[in-house]
Parts: sequence; structure tokens; C-alpha cells
Amino acid sequence: MGQVTFVEHDGTDHEVGIEEGASLMRHAVDNLVPGIDADCGGDASCGTCHVIVDQGWYDRTGSIGDDEQLMLDMTPERADTSRLACQIEVTEELDGLQVTLPEFQM
Ligand code: FES
Repeated sequence: MGQVTFVEHDGTDHEVGIEEGASLMRHAVDNLVPGIDADCGGDASCGTCHVIVDQGWYDRTGSIGDDEQLMLDMTPERADTSRLACQIEVTEELDGLQVTLPEFQM
């Protein structure tokens, strides 16, 4: 089984086993990774599951939809490789993915 890694703003990392087909947000919440609030439950409407994807992985995390783009545009700590974790479907192809959490969610 592969894994993905969440790195908190302070550098603390959390390695989580891949649950094929679940969103990256769900991986964080189900494994009690701090820093992902996910207030809307995955509808791309709250922006509280913001993650910054490591550059080398960004192109493999899929395309950004209109709703996600709108939320990212309002995200204070947005970076070039920002995504909403609820909009990334995790498969074994993302084994090794690393994302960093912003200091604050919206
Ligand atoms: S959980 Fe609300 S935008 Fe991702």
C-alpha cells in the first residue's frame, strides 16, 4: 500500500496510507491530520482544505475546476501549486505525494 505525506506548517509530517479513490481531504480527516478543517465536507465551497502540493507532484494531481479556482482565488496563503485537498482523488499513482499545509486555513 502506498502513502501520502502531509507536512504541517511547523515541519511536522504525517504519513498516511492510501485509500484508493478517496479524496486527499478524506485521507487527512480520517487520519486526524491537524490543519485540514474541511468545513463543507468536500464540496469545494469552504476553502478550508487548502494544501500546497510539492512542485514535482503538481501536474499529477488533476485539473482545477471552476469552483475550486474560485475558492483558491480567495485563499490568503495561495501558492503556485495550491490545491483544495477535497478535489484531489488519491490513487496508487500518487504513492509518495507530499503536500504542505498553510499556517492558517480560510
Ligand atoms: S472541504 Fe471545503 S473546500 Fe474542500
